[in-house]
Amino acid sequence: MMEGDDTRPDATGIVDLRSDTVTLPTEAMLAEMRRAPLGDDSRDGDPTVRALEAQAALLTGKEAALFVPSGTMGNLLAMLAHGERGGEILADGGAHLFNSEIGSVVAVAGLIPRAVASHRGAMNEDALAQAIRAASSAGRPRPALIWMETTHNGAGGAVLPLSHMARVHALGRSNGIAVHVDGARLFNASVALGASAQAIADHADSVMFCLSKGLSAPVGSLLAGSAAFIARARGFRRFVGGNMRQAGVIAAAGLVALDTMVERLREDHAAAARLAHALAWLDPVLAEPDQVQTNILRVDVSSSARDAADWASRLKRHGILVQASGASQLRLVTHRHIDSAAVERTIAAFAAEA
Ligand SMILES: Cc1ncc(COP(=O)(O)O)c(C=O)c1O
Repeated sequence: MMEGDDTRPDATGIVDLRSDTVTLPTEAMLAEMRRAPLGDDSRDGDPTVRALEAQAALLTGKEAALFVPSGTMGNLLAMLAHGERGGEILADGGAHLFNSEIGSVVAVAGLIPRAVASHRGAMNEDALAQAIRAASSAGRPRPALIWMETTHNGAGGAVLPLSHMARVHALGRSNGIAVHVDGARLFNASVALGASAQAIADHADSVMFCLSKGLSAPVGSLLAGSAAFIARARGFRRFVGGNMRQAGVIAAAGLVALDTMVERLREDHAAAARLAHALAWLDPVLAEPDQVQTNILRVDVSSSARDAADWASRLKRHGILVQASGASQLRLVTHRHIDSAAVERTIAAFAAEA
């Protein structure tokens, strides 16, 4: 257990693998929240928010960054600030954007979603080039934005290869189309690749990352990009009601998260790998250990007589919470509160129910 890590919800005896968003702030975060210098962020600026935004810009190698309450808002502002209402947004069909943020895409940003064939979250580059060509020739709406997601939630935490990202970015550039990265779990990707966050963000015009997932901060995400882009996003943040006042209270936790929580994401990746190996040993259909790159594990229960919802409710009786995803998949996400005892309890629960 890490120092200052005594806000773990062990007392409940529940092993909550539904998401890394369930993580609680550390004692160090709570202490910083109490002593952070504060101001009215949308009047004179909040010094702690400014410090967090500067740190985010530095880490991603962008000119500027903007603090927002959620990943969804960061992504929405990216669409609005790059945007061109009525244009197409090209992403893989399994993107979080298309599955969970489609209202933002269509109803607020006014973009038209175009799903590009993909494998493990990575768009097929020929299909992407073809989609861009088709749009230019067939009088379809202009391609306005190319979207990548890393790590990829729907693809079981898969990490996009940097070479792929570089080619997609080049394709965007040569066609005058902006490229955004939904990096809700950017630092999981960074740790898994052994590359800096900047080395990933270099392959996009803008990037969003979340503090409130594996990094354990209670609230907040950042959007980073050029100074002009962030100025536009800041205007749109007001437009969607995202202006905050003494937001340094939460930004303070974010600064601690970036300082203390990035390297420990490795532990979450190791826990997910341990789970995958053990489940594959129980039944090779359940998990594919060589596909588990970060902290998300997709468990395939199709070979069993029970559907995913039934599995989830049976595991719950063992005190293990997982998320059913469709009829045949469970999603397990490891995080700071999942220690080795929690991993072993999870394996035992699967063994009892298999
Ligand atoms: C890949 C991805 N993008 C965006 C989001 C949205 O983040 P938030 O829940 O902070 O709005 C999530 C949330 O899980 C996500 O997994």
